[in-house]
Amino acid sequence: MQIYQQKAEILRTEKFTGDIYRFSLKAPDIAAEARPGQFVMVRTGEGMDPLLRRPFSVHQVAEGGLVQILFKIVGRGTQLLSRMQSGKYLDVLGPLGQGFTNGENNQHFLVGGGIGIAPLLFLAKQLLKRNEPSAIKVLLGARTEDEIGILAEDFGSMGLEVLSATEDGSLGQKGLVTDLLVPINETRATVYGCGPYPMLRVVAGICHTKGWGCQVSLETIMACGLAACLGCTVLRSDLKGYVHVCKDGPVFNADEVAWL
Ligand SMILES: Cc1cc2nc3c(=O)[nH]c(=O)nc-3n(C[C@H](O)[C@H](O)[C@H](O)COP(=O)(O)OP(=O)(O)OC[C@H]3O[C@@H](n4cnc5c(N)ncnc54)[C@H](O)[C@@H]3O)c2cc1C
Ligand code: FES
Repeated sequence: MQIYQQKAEILRTEKFTGDIYRFSLKAPDIAAEARPGQFVMVRTGEGMDPLLRRPFSVHQVAEGGLVQILFKIVGRGTQLLSRMQSGKYLDVLGPLGQGFTNGENNQHFLVGGGIGIAPLLFLAKQLLKRNEPSAIKVLLGARTEDEIGILAEDFGSMGLEVLSATEDGSLGQKGLVTDLLVPINETRATVYGCGPYPMLRVVAGICHTKGWGCQVSLETIMACGLAACLGCTVLRSDLKGYVHVCKDGPVFNADEVAWL
């Protein structure tokens, strides 16, 4: 797979909540090549500060060479990025890593927690090419409605059933997204999970118990994104070695990694 470094113009910025933003970038080569679950490394400042690029999932691609990223401010890089205006250019490298694969099972559950929902819209579009909408369900979790309300509408407008859980009960069931997964009775299903590590560990456990396929997108600190720095390694499930999240992932079958 080809990797491109592009100066991508910011065509549109959207502010969801105080700290969550969606940017639409003109990056035709990356848009043409990207698959759901892959990511891009973005230089978030205008100069060399911060020195290292930051990884963001490809949130969506659209006609006209558009790539979207959805991000939350957590530190200096994302703070600087959030201040960028339309018309500015971002240095973007990608698409990188291994994305989601189409599960063999006849029911598909997309499970996203917080900003981890980012890659699932692209995945939903891909799955819809090969499956009826009724075969795909979206389970979203966050602290409050603000963080997921617009995304829930985006999935809904694709004809998909969306179940939500929020910690404060402002949207859907009060609680965690994993609470929505437990009562589901399907014999054959594939779960695609993306979110914080503790959430993914629970998702992996539920799928293991139910005998479902499970693909998870892992997040680690990444310095290079190109398997050159060893900064992103996680332990394999056989405890005999490591995988690079940037090159072997970020999407893994849940039984490939050790859930520590
Ligand atoms: C493959 C991949 C895809 C990602 N996709 C998205 C996305 O679509 N949207 C989004 O908002 N974020 C995403 N992230 C996380 C994002 O890369 C980090 O939030 C970002 O790099 C933080 O940069 P910063 O300079 O703002 O924060 P920093 O100042 O570098 O760090 C601030 C705090 O965040 C923690 N942190 C930094 N990077 C990560 C990380 N990767 N995982 C967990 N904690 C981290 C640091 O330990 C520190 O506590 C993704 C990460 C990976 C590895
Ligand atoms: S981020 Fe450098 S090896 Fe993965």
